[in-house]
Amino acid sequence: MSEALQTVSIRVTVNGATCERDVEPRQLLVEFIREELRLTGTHIGCDTSFCGACTVLLDGAPVKSCTLFAAQADGAQVTTVEALEQDGQVHPLQQAFSEQHGLQCGYCTPGMFMSSLALLAENPNPSVQDIRKALAGNVCRCTGYQNIIKSVQAAATVLRQEG
Ligand code: FES
Ligand code: FES
Repeated sequence: MSEALQTVSIRVTVNGATCERDVEPRQLLVEFIREELRLTGTHIGCDTSFCGACTVLLDGAPVKSCTLFAAQADGAQVTTVEALEQDGQVHPLQQAFSEQHGLQCGYCTPGMFMSSLALLAENPNPSVQDIRKALAGNVCRCTGYQNIIKSVQAAATVLRQEG
């Protein structure tokens, strides 16, 4: 005899839209975002909480969404990479990564964006060291990081000018 699958009800605001769902307690936040909400910009790059490709903001703080259960986001605000583009306008981070060659394959890029977004919200004029520290949990296998740092600096300049 099979037991009924247990679920928990959660209410999460994702990119400004509130959604209510019944989820399995073991469902990871990254699975919820990708499979339930079909927001596939958040990537899965490892099984070890190492790569940071799954980084999203939880109440403004960067988290690796493969390390949390969806149920832990109950009542929270989640921001994913899909929130960056507004009305067809790319975010200064997206523009800067494009112009400064901050990406190659792009697999790590959504996570890089989200960690950078949190950094720039807290520190509009970060040093190279600040950027390295903020991105320490985000692994890139392609770029050698130098252009990523230049990209974050360029975006910071634009955002300060937009003030
Ligand atoms: S998929 Fe989450 S850290 Fe790699
Ligand atoms: S651009 Fe390929 S992993 Fe970073």
